[in-house]
Amino acid sequence: MFYEPNEKKDHGLPHDPFKSLVVPRPIGWISTLDLKGNVNLAPYSFFNAVCYDPCIVLFSASGLIDDPQKHSRRNAEETGEFVCNLVSEELREQMNITAAHVGRGVDELALAGLTAEPSRTVKPPRVLEAPAHLECRYLKTVEFESHLPNQSHGVVFGEVTGVHIKDEFLSGGFVDILKIKPIARMGYRDYTVVDQIFSMAPPDTKTGAPPKKTGF
Ligand SMILES: Cc1cc2nc3c(=O)[nH]c(=O)nc-3n(C[C@H](O)[C@H](O)[C@H](O)COP(=O)(O)O)c2cc1C
Repeated sequence: MFYEPNEKKDHGLPHDPFKSLVVPRPIGWISTLDLKGNVNLAPYSFFNAVCYDPCIVLFSASGLIDDPQKHSRRNAEETGEFVCNLVSEELREQMNITAAHVGRGVDELALAGLTAEPSRTVKPPRVLEAPAHLECRYLKTVEFESHLPNQSHGVVFGEVTGVHIKDEFLSGGFVDILKIKPIARMGYRDYTVVDQIFSMAPPDTKTGAPPKKTGF
């Protein structure tokens, strides 16, 4: 099949398949503070790392143009800070609770029975139960207009100013991702868990020859 996803959306399927193709999408569980100091927590699967020197991440918040934007985005823009908490498999139900559309100022972290832990380089707290956290300084928002009426997507970029990894998830100096078991978003209502890995070294950058052993 072939379809044009933006103006035409002529896929003819019961659901738009695009979000089922670019998968899995890691989940950034974004904690922020509003200007009054209220905690906000919400999951974003249009989330990723952009580069690693400096370490920069993004999350994309969809919203109505003439309606208040998503709280995570507004808080990050207004206070200049946010934290990306990682979501492990055992936190999936709590993560889902924090996706609730509640009023601004309602603390979803408390709503989900989670514990707020102070951050080191920014004011928004971290989710204590999460296996790792990226503390971020807001950089900019890039706005993309939607083809749907009155909708837009604000892609929020932040520089990572501090990284926490719980010691129990480090094995022999490496992040033990099979112990963390992060969940990620698939299409429809599906998720996946990182519970399997394989290693493959890149070819030699000068000769193109396959390497003899795995490198980083
Ligand atoms: C797993 C998951 C991933 C989500 N990813 C996004 C996303 O990438 N962008 C978005 O705008 N909303 C996303 N949502 C919906 C938001 O979490 C939801 O609208 C939430 O209420 C926003 O909260 P906030 O206004 O406090 O930021 C996602 C929801 C779930 C459950």
